[in-house]
Amino acid sequence: MTASKKRLIITACALTTATIITLTWAAANKPTNTKPSANTKAEAKILAVLDDLYNEEYPMTNVPPQDGRLIRILAETTGAKNVVEIGTANGCSALWFSLALRTTGGNLITHEIDDHRASLARANFKQAGVNHLITIVEGDAHKTLTNLKPPIDILFLDADKTGNLDYLEKLLPLIRPGGLIITHNTTTHAEDMKDYTKAVTTDPNLETIFLHKKDQGIAITLKKRPAKPTN
Ligand SMILES: C[S@@+](CC[C@H](N)C(=O)[O-])C[C@H]1O[C@@H](n2cnc3c(N)ncnc32)[C@H](O)[C@@H]1O
Repeated sequence: MTASKKRLIITACALTTATIITLTWAAANKPTNTKPSANTKAEAKILAVLDDLYNEEYPMTNVPPQDGRLIRILAETTGAKNVVEIGTANGCSALWFSLALRTTGGNLITHEIDDHRASLARANFKQAGVNHLITIVEGDAHKTLTNLKPPIDILFLDADKTGNLDYLEKLLPLIRPGGLIITHNTTTHAEDMKDYTKAVTTDPNLETIFLHKKDQGIAITLKKRPAKPTN
């Protein structure tokens, strides 16, 4: 066999091996159970509206389903009663929260600066049968949030990313000890929220982790409960 033929066979073998490894890795890392299944007609109604939003021809910059499922799980496991969202858009993340709030007996106050988006969200909440759980506050959240009252169990930040530090400074005192701040787009907008990220990772009264880093990124920050006098 000639040297060039040998090289060709070695290259072909290497390519085949690389392809097999890539396909195996992709299969192993493929998200499973990508769709939540509804346990009631009410859940099915909410999930159907979410499905429609994700299948729109020109979808908005909504939370992807894995982030939506995460915020629902966090709200439901913490038994959240008072959730505040900054950045409603057409209501996708609010609908994920509503899956939890139906069962925790809680409600959501969500803030949106764009009146057209707010009206789309209002229609979606009605269609999903959850409008009684959600209040939309229209206007610039940096100003309108002054009307919020404590305690906030979960704060979800998903609006103007450069404004996150201002939201944190204004709302941290209202978040209950043991409450959470969930921040979206920590990967895609890391640069815009550098000051915010520094604040939530250096304050000893907060504990922050970053998840779904290879996707849009989502951070979960715990406002620690105060230490007992003996600690
Ligand atoms: C990424 S979208 C929110 C997506 C939404 N959370 C979802 O998953 O469906 C950001 C939204 O924040 C809104 N927004 C931006 N700046 C704002 C501000 N200062 N006050 C209130 N809303 C704002 C935008 O109009 C936009 O609809």
